Amino acid sequence: MNITVVGSGYVGLVTGVCLAHIGHTVICVDNNHEKIKRLKLGEVPIYEPGLEELLKKYLKNKRLSFTTSIADAAKRSTVIFIAVGTPSKKNGEADLTYVENVARDIARVMDSYKLIVEKSTVPADTGQRIKRTIAMNLSRKFRKGNEVTLDFDVASNPEFLREGSAVHDFMNPDRVVIGVESAKAERLLREMYAPLKPVMVVTDINSAELIKHASNSFLATKISFINAIAQVCDHVGADVLKVAEGMGFDKRIGRKFLDAGIGYGGSCFPKDVDAFIRLSEKNGYHFNLLKEVRNVNEEQTALFVRLIEDKLWIIKDKVIGVLGVAFKPNTDDMRNAPSIGIIEALQREGAKVKAYDPQAMPNAKKVFKNVTYCSDPYALAKGCDCLLLLTEWDEFRKLDFKKIKRVMKHAILFDGRNFYNDRNLKASGFEYYGVGRGMLERKRG
Ligand code: UDX
Ligand code: UDX
Repeated sequence: MNITVVGSGYVGLVTGVCLAHIGHTVICVDNNHEKIKRLKLGEVPIYEPGLEELLKKYLKNKRLSFTTSIADAAKRSTVIFIAVGTPSKKNGEADLTYVENVARDIARVMDSYKLIVEKSTVPADTGQRIKRTIAMNLSRKFRKGNEVTLDFDVASNPEFLREGSAVHDFMNPDRVVIGVESAKAERLLREMYAPLKPVMVVTDINSAELIKHASNSFLATKISFINAIAQVCDHVGADVLKVAEGMGFDKRIGRKFLDAGIGYGGSCFPKDVDAFIRLSEKNGYHFNLLKEVRNVNEEQTALFVRLIEDKLWIIKDKVIGVLGVAFKPNTDDMRNAPSIGIIEALQREGAKVKAYDPQAMPNAKKVFKNVTYCSDPYALAKGCDCLLLLTEWDEFRKLDFKKIKRVMKHAILFDGRNFYNDRNLKASGFEYYGVGRGMLERKRG
């Protein structure tokens, strides 16, 4: 099939490259000229495991191409995905300006049947609005009064790609959700995904849009739930790792997304929870459960900072080494990373912050002022009063903590992801603090 993907960011690029991988001819579009220039050379502007290899392969055999022109791409494709950004407005609502712009641009060049598919995460009812925008902006020859004479469809096909494993997630979906209004749209999307042999969930457009917001909000709820349990564990002297294990074996609960820590971040969960709260409110339902999910998440960062203050006493002039700043491992993405709130809070109190991250340092430099970046974890540890583990990169698993202890001023480690075995760390001479491990006497309030 001939497919266009508009928006070549984390989601659009992975989608485009993977669609080429399963046999389609794909044109990726972006209005960022510099990005398209690099992509044409086979350079991937983001860190996403496995992506560059596939991109180079399909660029070479011409199944994949890049352009800044929606007009060129749309003319040569039957299916057009919209995967541009949907950032948050100040009130939490999704800003759909880019989606509307792209829909308008597509409409203006349409002269044959097209299936326009929303890939970006959008609130329910966006599909209907895209449909209206397209109808209103078609060339005059396809409009007779209020009647539209050109056949087209709008569909929703939300993404469930986790950064860091997005290629794997695309190739091995738990399900593919499509929201459609015609048999033709359903047939095209079924055909497109057929090589993956996925479980298909076929719904109306509004339900598909809602499935995405509901899924991400549910996962965020699961994380906040276990973070709340972690707080109780610290108060009563229980270990959240054991509690999660014990809960997780129950198939109705499952162990996934029960990792307590410094809270969820990234470009999706915080934004989608906000947008879902707003969408519900606008439609007359006060989603207090989700408001509390957000509160617990914000509190998680604050409590971690309070723990550090409690153990270090005076923060001013203390040297704090941060292992990992990305919002999760295997990505260079800093959007809504929990590290941001933690580092900024410590800096406000006068801490001297050093940081090391395997991939995210270039993006971190755009976020933080006055952070000293180090070439490796050992250079980071030198002279530190404590270390904070904020992103659980695999390479941090193999660190030689005896060596690290020798170069630190004080061997204290705050493990924001419960990544390390506390006994091993203690055996290496470290004072160790995890989240919800029942080792603290913390007072709330
Ligand atoms: C985006 C949405 O924010 C998210 O809600 C959705 O689930 C998937 O798409 P992401 O791919 O992570 O997420 O965003 P980003 O990496 O910012 O990529 C968006 C791309 O669209 C950028 O490359 C940007 O240059 C491009 N863009 C934006 C256009 O090509 N045209 C526009 O009008 C606006
Ligand atoms: C998410 C969705 O999982 C994915 O389906 C898609 O909709 C895009 O958004 P992503 O944001 O890339 O993916 O990462 P994810 O693995 O979901 O993690 C999100 C955040 O939650 C990270 O900050 C992660 O560290 C945190 N997290 C995750 C926890 O704190 N505990 C957990 O148990 C799991």
